[in-house]
Amino acid sequence: MKGVILHGGYGTRLRPLTHTGPKQLIPVANKPISQYVLEDLREAGVEEIAIILGDLYPEKVKEYYGNGSDFGVKITYIPQGEPKGIAQAVGLAKDFVGDDSFVVYLGDNILKGGINRFVEKFNNNSYDSMILLTEVKEPQRFGVAEFDENGKLKRLVEKPKVPPSNYALVGIYFFTPVIFEMIAKLKPSWRGEYEITDAIQMLLEKKFEVGYDFVTGWWKDTGTPEDILEANRLVLDEIKPEVKGTVKEDSCIQGRVFVDEGSVVEKGALVRGPCVIGKNSVIESGVYIGPYTSIGNNVTIKKGEIEGCVIMDDCLIDVNERIVDSLIGPHSQILTNSHTKPKGRRFVLGERSRVEL
Ligand code: DAU
Repeated sequence: MKGVILHGGYGTRLRPLTHTGPKQLIPVANKPISQYVLEDLREAGVEEIAIILGDLYPEKVKEYYGNGSDFGVKITYIPQGEPKGIAQAVGLAKDFVGDDSFVVYLGDNILKGGINRFVEKFNNNSYDSMILLTEVKEPQRFGVAEFDENGKLKRLVEKPKVPPSNYALVGIYFFTPVIFEMIAKLKPSWRGEYEITDAIQMLLEKKFEVGYDFVTGWWKDTGTPEDILEANRLVLDEIKPEVKGTVKEDSCIQGRVFVDEGSVVEKGALVRGPCVIGKNSVIESGVYIGPYTSIGNNVTIKKGEIEGCVIMDDCLIDVNERIVDSLIGPHSQILTNSHTKPKGRRFVLGERSRVEL
């Protein structure tokens, strides 16, 4: 079985973070979201993987994953450019897939517990396709499944205004090459995209066998800043504590905290897990790092209290404030106002930044 990771799209709801890279590279507990995807595939024995690239800094994806050897997989890159829909993106993998079966994993989805069980189920059945479902509160945000009175999968519909059930399609799909015949016949949906949901619906209509299974643990589609923060909390809930860096005497570490190589927690600092601190970062004396915080590499926290945040690489925070539930992009600085006049808050913000005071 081969794997296809979708790494395109514009990630508009995550701007300004997506002005400088694809959303799938945004870190959750210090690891890009798409790396969880890649590792799930590898753990399930799927080692030949195509990554479909969009036109938002695709070179950053290639730079990070290379040919895949550092991650124990073999990667082929396929450019999509402008996002015309998941089905169109999958269609580009036709030559890569050849006669094999394959699993498509959306690069912005995170799933607890991996996909081994589902790969096994697909391989042990003669399905033409298999989908994964989970119960959600807002089904109108997703592809939704409808079942008949005998519990048989009847219909799939993308982002319906009136959802026929609460069962959403998870962004992990198992296919045989017959899906390419359906994709070739697709017309764009009302939102102008070639929908994978419509292609699977076509399989159902043509009486191909579409299996399904339910995701039991948590699953997160990370389209918004709130989604990223929630995914961060979910992943941090499972981290293993370890100190590779230096935790100075008279500092205080509580709960599950991971401190990576080269980082220092100075005396008088309090770090309360679950929390991760990347490489070569410094948590200075008097700083409080609260639960559900991820601090990237080369970050300096000189002053302040930080809780429930994702602080990305190379940031500097030096302010006597409590910062909560925030996503701070790489190379950002939050500083104490100098005392020159006129006094007040000063900002240098990119397009679509958001500040809550
Ligand atoms: O997350 C599950 C949902 O994903 C499903 O329930 C829906 O049926 C499915 O259509 C999809 O909906 P989204 O609105 O979340 O899709 P989104 O546009 O966010 O794209 C999902 C991923 O695929 C994202 O990582 C970007 C990538 N993508 C998307 C499009 C449209 C591409 O690489 N190329 C594309 O053309």
